[in-house]
Amino acid sequence: MKTRITEMFGIEHPIIQGGMHFVGFAEMAAAVSNAGGLGIITALTQRTPADLANEIARCRDMTDKPIGVNLTFLPVVNAPDYPGYVKAIIDGGVKAVETAGNNPVQVLPILKEHGIKVIHKCTAVRHALKAQSIGCDAVSVDGFECGGHPGEDDIPNMILLPRAADELDIPFVASGGQADGRSLVASLAMGAEGMNMGTRFIATKEAPVHQNVKDAIVAASELDTRLVMRPLRNTERVLTNAAVERLLVKEKELGSKLEFKDIAEEVAGVYPRIMMDGEMDAGAWSCGMVAGLIHDIPTCKELIDRIMAEAEEIINKRLSGFLKN
Ligand SMILES: Cc1cc2nc3c(=O)[nH]c(=O)nc-3n(C[C@H](O)[C@H](O)[C@H](O)COP(=O)(O)O)c2cc1C
Repeated sequence: MKTRITEMFGIEHPIIQGGMHFVGFAEMAAAVSNAGGLGIITALTQRTPADLANEIARCRDMTDKPIGVNLTFLPVVNAPDYPGYVKAIIDGGVKAVETAGNNPVQVLPILKEHGIKVIHKCTAVRHALKAQSIGCDAVSVDGFECGGHPGEDDIPNMILLPRAADELDIPFVASGGQADGRSLVASLAMGAEGMNMGTRFIATKEAPVHQNVKDAIVAASELDTRLVMRPLRNTERVLTNAAVERLLVKEKELGSKLEFKDIAEEVAGVYPRIMMDGEMDAGAWSCGMVAGLIHDIPTCKELIDRIMAEAEEIINKRLSGFLKN
């Protein structure tokens, strides 16, 4: 399949693995890239720019295919060393960067100077238009279904994708709720030129996370995610568990008085305990509604090959069949 996204990133299939905290290590990115998609290392999971440089080098040892790095701009008081991370990306010869969170305008000139393609992930058409206007090469349009931070507008992809198609000139991928060939064909029909998956890629053999995390995704249905931190305007879609339910009680009780410190126990620093140690009730971790469509733990190659075969079958047989007399 050839789209502006496969051409832009030099990949075989229009499938991107979104940056994921404590999941997007070299093993994850290499497995997706080796399967013909675009694998992405998550910069901020690496404590320092030197650690990121090392992670990029490890990934290069595992694949000679294109890889990307996710740079998430968080609303934090002590900003990470973004210039240092950018330098590690450039020095590592990475040619694709997924930005997310705040507007990436401060890093765009230097990335572009080094021929790096930037795909900005956003949850609203107005943010996608802003990304286009400042010079991003593509956007990843993240619907309300998505795991992680869906923003505050709550527009699902059935509306968001065609709205993006109506407004944008640069190519975009559909993100949030994508799992299989049906997702890909539907997204293409709504104007996207590929898809970005998070949760689906965690439930793969190569995802470098504890087996408990993969099993939890397979066991979950589409009813099992919750939105947390909405009162702080930092909404996150997570898989429900004891810590999440406790957090939601606090949110309800404290109402508009809620401060981050009130829920720090449930959200701060919990990712290593969940992803590495498999302590599933340690706190809130991002997971999409798409868990309801995930029933197995294939390799990344099995997953991507299956998606592409299914997409082809839907386009060639099911859809074109409707047009035949
Ligand atoms: C466990 C997990 C961690 C994530 N961490 C990040 C992150 O650090 N930065 C980021 O931009 N997106 C992050 N995301 C969002 C994904 O990149 C992607 O946009 C999202 O998962 C798409 O929705 P889906 O899960 O329905 O596929 C995370 C998602 C998950 C599930």
